[in-house]
Amino acid sequence: MERISSGASTSREISTSPENEINFTIRKCRVEDLDQILEIEKTSFPNPYDRSLFTHFLTEGASGFLVAEKEGMIIGYLIFTNQRKLGTIVSIAVSPEYRRRGVGRRLLEATLNQLSGKVNIVELQVSAKNEDAIEFYRKFSFRQTAILRMYYPNGEDAILMSRKF
Ligand SMILES: CC(C)(COP(=O)(O)OP(=O)(O)OC[C@H]1O[C@@H](n2cnc3c(N)ncnc32)[C@H](O)[C@@H]1OP(=O)(O)O)[C@@H](O)C(=O)NCCC(=O)NCCS
Repeated sequence: MERISSGASTSREISTSPENEINFTIRKCRVEDLDQILEIEKTSFPNPYDRSLFTHFLTEGASGFLVAEKEGMIIGYLIFTNQRKLGTIVSIAVSPEYRRRGVGRRLLEATLNQLSGKVNIVELQVSAKNEDAIEFYRKFSFRQTAILRMYYPNGEDAILMSRKF
């Protein structure tokens, strides 16, 4: 799935410390979450998915669609598939104001837990320019397996990353 981050994050400036920790829950996405997910999407990607694609993932197109919820507000989401022992992270995004507070980590850990025992490998594609996301995935033992030259419509390369189970 094609994903290029807008690179609008200022998250590098936020150091991880106990005061940065926030309380939130991870749960399955519901249709009423989509408005807020679309807002996160618009602030996270220059080529945001539209409502019909999210609805597709919610109803039939994905094996899992998780959200992070803080006091009734959606602050992140992750969509994944599981086909023939191959898990794929289709998309993940966290609200810019909540990045570097462990939201992406919890979403990814919940996904890996759900895929555990069902897949041999989990993979994803990320823009070669999306250093934040590449660092995030590396932190969770994803490693580069290929470069897909000129993969995106704007000519950017994609990196294929994977993690064995
Ligand atoms: C990638 C993304 C989902 C990470 O979410 P997050 O909630 O900020 O990540 P976390 O706070 O859980 O980070 C967990 C660890 O990943 C690494 N990490 C996360 N963001 C990082 C960054 N910008 N730079 C370096 N390392 C980073 C760190 O090791 C971090 O642990 P630490 O904060 O204790 O150092 C978020 O930056 C985002 O939404 N980006 C825009 C959308 C996007 O690019 N999605 C991926 C498309 S393939």
